[in-house]
Amino acid sequence: MNILVLGSGGREHSLVWKLAQSRKVSKIFIGPGNAGTSNIGTNLPVNPENFEEVRKAVIENSINIVIVGPEAPLVSGIHDFFLNDKLLKNIPVIGPDKSAARLEGSKDFAKAFLTRHNIPTSVYRSFDKSTVDEAYDFLRTLDPPYVIKADGLAAGKGVVIVDDIGTAEAEAKAMLEGKFDKAGHKVVIEQFLKGVELSVFIVTDGHSYKLLPEAKDYKRIGERDSGLNTGGMGAVSPVPFADKKFMEKVKQRIIDPTINGLSEDGINYKGFIFFGLINVNGDPYVIEYNARLGDPESEVIIPRIKSDLFDLIEGVAMGDLEKRKLEIDNRYVTTVMLVSGGYPGSYEKGKTIFGLDLTRDSVIFHSGTKISDNKVITSGGRVLAVSSWGNTMNEALEGSYRNASLLSFENMYYRTDIGFDL
Ligand code: GLY
Repeated sequence: MNILVLGSGGREHSLVWKLAQSRKVSKIFIGPGNAGTSNIGTNLPVNPENFEEVRKAVIENSINIVIVGPEAPLVSGIHDFFLNDKLLKNIPVIGPDKSAARLEGSKDFAKAFLTRHNIPTSVYRSFDKSTVDEAYDFLRTLDPPYVIKADGLAAGKGVVIVDDIGTAEAEAKAMLEGKFDKAGHKVVIEQFLKGVELSVFIVTDGHSYKLLPEAKDYKRIGERDSGLNTGGMGAVSPVPFADKKFMEKVKQRIIDPTINGLSEDGINYKGFIFFGLINVNGDPYVIEYNARLGDPESEVIIPRIKSDLFDLIEGVAMGDLEKRKLEIDNRYVTTVMLVSGGYPGSYEKGKTIFGLDLTRDSVIFHSGTKISDNKVITSGGRVLAVSSWGNTMNEALEGSYRNASLLSFENMYYRTDIGFDL
């Protein structure tokens, strides 16, 4: 089998790393990939959002299955593009079609879906430009902090949480007036939920599903969860509070009703679902759905999969996931993200990375790297994810931090407290 993985981050590197271990996989191509993926497969100069470029790469490289890493191509319909193309229609795309990807692509759609199927989530209402006064009235019925979400994809910046009602009103107005372009033409305002967040993942063929390991992501740039939000500064799996009892509630109250709800609504979902959950006094609530795996969560959940990940992918493609086997490693995996100084604000790229040949007993997933003049250089805000195994969380963290200290590039920064709250 020849596989094409679309994307260029640590999530895609971890997918490629695991898929390359499968006996069923002959060649792996990555579009566009990074310096790390180029050591495993063949990087292709493909923009995942340019479907014609993807089409050309698939045909030229005799690709049998396409796995879509990031959300943007899914939300804009790459799966449908394949289904509607004479030459591509029989090539399975792992990732939902446009209608199903609305779970991530439209916050309003997701909240309506959750409410319609009685899946626990916070109270909400949606507004557009013509109902901005009603949005202000609704805000006054809520307790602070106020949560305002742009309906569509806004490069991870579309969720705002503020304490002050005046700022909340101004934010809602700014979104409706085009702050995030079309993504904010509708806004969702919802009651804030206080608790600890957790990322839960499944892979589904539209009928059955497999529960993948869960993870906790550390989103803030600073120690003790301070400062600006990032794409994720580190992650831990398993999550100690996600015990058997809690996960049973997640299955019964959230995952099963989601799968049944999709089927009742006539939505055929094939791919990964990422449930962004919050544990409120022992009860799980959905904050958001994502139509893909998380990053840096992938860098801890994929190393915990002992069985062949490609077997699950094939099960999704063939619709017989029920028959496929999933074995999980009980050990902890942690990852620490090394980022460019200044991130998530402005930062410099092109810095030479040192020490990649020195690390031991960890796997280094590349996030924002590329090769230039035979050197690995930085090419993004999040640069490397250092993932390690351990019988305890501390043992895994010790491995991640020991190896992080062997790596360097100018202005490198990382959090030293991943897992502090667990
Ligand atoms: N780490 C959060 C995300 O992938 O959206």
